[in-house]
Amino acid sequence: MQMGFQRWKRVSLWIFVVAMFFAGGAGVWAIVTDMTDVKITHSPAAVHADQDELRELVASGQDAEAFEEAFELGDDLFATLFNALDGVGANVGKGQRFTRVPRSDLKGTGEWFRHTPNRVTGPNSNACNSCHLRPFEDGAGDAAANVHRDPFRTGLIGQFIQRNTPHVFAVGAIQRLAEEMTDELHARRTALVNQVCAQGGTRSVTLIAKLVNYGTLSATRTQASPCKVTFNTDLVRGIDFLPSVDNPDAPPDLIVRPLQWKGSVPFIRDFNRGASHNELGMQAVEIVGDNVDGDFDGVKNEMTIGDQTALAVYMAAQPRPTSLVELSILGLIEPLTQTQLTTIARGAVVFGQIGCASCHIPAMAINNPTFSEPSQNAAYRDGTAFPAGQNPIARGVDPAFAVKFDLTRDQPDNRIELPNGTTFLLGSLRRDPQGRGLVELFGDLKRHVMGPRLAEPVNEIAGDDVTPIPLNPNNRHTPDTFLTENLWGVGSTPPYMHDGRATTITEAILEHSTGASSDPSEAKQSRQAYLALPAGDKRAVVAFLENLVLFKVEEEEGEQVATIAPKPEAATLRIPRAALKRRSTPSIQAPEGIRE
Ligand code: HEC
Ligand code: HEC
Repeated sequence: MQMGFQRWKRVSLWIFVVAMFFAGGAGVWAIVTDMTDVKITHSPAAVHADQDELRELVASGQDAEAFEEAFELGDDLFATLFNALDGVGANVGKGQRFTRVPRSDLKGTGEWFRHTPNRVTGPNSNACNSCHLRPFEDGAGDAAANVHRDPFRTGLIGQFIQRNTPHVFAVGAIQRLAEEMTDELHARRTALVNQVCAQGGTRSVTLIAKLVNYGTLSATRTQASPCKVTFNTDLVRGIDFLPSVDNPDAPPDLIVRPLQWKGSVPFIRDFNRGASHNELGMQAVEIVGDNVDGDFDGVKNEMTIGDQTALAVYMAAQPRPTSLVELSILGLIEPLTQTQLTTIARGAVVFGQIGCASCHIPAMAINNPTFSEPSQNAAYRDGTAFPAGQNPIARGVDPAFAVKFDLTRDQPDNRIELPNGTTFLLGSLRRDPQGRGLVELFGDLKRHVMGPRLAEPVNEIAGDDVTPIPLNPNNRHTPDTFLTENLWGVGSTPPYMHDGRATTITEAILEHSTGASSDPSEAKQSRQAYLALPAGDKRAVVAFLENLVLFKVEEEEGEQVATIAPKPEAATLRIPRAALKRRSTPSIQAPEGIRE
């Protein structure tokens, strides 16, 4: 015993010395940044988009070509496995280029903590579609695709947050819906100001946008001529209301921010360039600056202005999610049985009855279905400057020459040729009887208090550098506020909830509150109502939700590839003959509750 111990002490001392040697050495090892040798044998993987070219196409009246080119280039970028010559990854420190664990501890020159813009996660991967992959590209992520962030860069593991990868289908429709909702809120705000300026005193307005109620805004006239007004936002709910911490006197901004689990990012381009930097270490010039190597990997100008336009257009034009019922009617899957159809229909009714639809609103309509990059709406594009300071218009990102497409007819994917020779635009929004585009999102683009069960350890948004910090405690983000997750496509995207903790829809419902009567969760009652349902109705609700699926038939080099969540007991997916130029053996399974 004694001997063994002595020997172990000697051995461990030796291990310690060796470890110190390597640790000391590792501190100075960086990733390969001198690309001379790499360039002899390899090439960059990315094909870049040129903003001037896109702008030129629009300026010469070739809008359709501009859209098509942006979409194609964006499609390629989304699937590109970038390499070091492209500038993927970053100098994390300790010789690492990628890390799934935030490394706020690495504060040496050029290391993780020193990157610009500030890094809170990753670089996690070398391609967008390594996370947005299930059941197929542009879909959601499984648990392995979860992202860990250290929002306050403390290096304290207990303050990290974890986020599951959502699907990116039809995000263009979501942005466009948010734009119109914001317009409505701003119109109400203007009417309130006009009224209070004319009549004096204090007036209030209910902040309704489409079918959503964001509470009450009040204004008081403090000076008659010129009219001055102060606002009271105590009763505003579920939306940011200050434009900037630097400008607390400005009127409440009331911008519906539809992206990110907490609803903190207003427009797709804004999200994508953050993802390019954070997830991939592919730094767009518009967030890091021209000729700046903000992540110390030896490469500058990793993504062009045109690249970000292309990625935004590609994301925006992703097809809308669909349903098994719709696929069945179209003959794209084995027809659902009468029992299945009845169960799904029953589920939709119960979903409304037990209050789920108060947050997960089935559909809202947009009057103008044209998506525009950059947006025609000032709240959804960069103003006078990109985050890195360049003037967008001078760089060709000009609303007067925007890349545009119609959300009700132009999406390139899911154009289904029916046996009678007509084409059904399954990827496009349906139109309501008034001709408006229907966004069947099952969401409300509003933030809700969800209680301690879902609360994160820190309030990420309060520390976000782009998002305002509402000063009013009644309305500020809290660790337990989340945007209602849109449920379109939910049948194809387990696991569920912001961190992917729920592997089934039923667990997702249970997670909506602790069940305690003191729980502040706004979903407490509807969760309770679900639990009180007879088993048949529970199965119907779940069957209804599992019926909301993602589906994609993609045009790829003349061939169309149809894919849908493959599951064990598969029924075959039938593609109409007329459309057959395709390789496909995709499969689909009937929703669980109604399997026969
Ligand atoms: C390492 C995994 C990972 C990679 C790689 C990744 N994403 Fe994501 N993506 C996520 C996660 C996680 C979220 C949710 C983030 C959140 O809300 O906190 C997300 C959200 C999004 C959203 C917003 C969706 C919504 O409805 O809010 C868009 C758009 C998006 N990603 C685009 C991209 C693009 C473009 C790329 C490549 C430049 C990319 N992603 C690469 C994991 C990833
Ligand atoms: C008060 C608003 C509210 C009500 C009511 C509500 N939900 Fe939710 N729901 C949310 C929010 C917010 C999330 C996202 C929470 C998170 O990410 O942690 C969510 C997430 C979900 C998800 C997971 C989606 C995904 O992709 O991860 C499902 C499934 C779901 N809800 C179903 C239901 C059902 C069924 C009901 C009725 C029993 C219901 N919800 C009632 C707000 C609500």
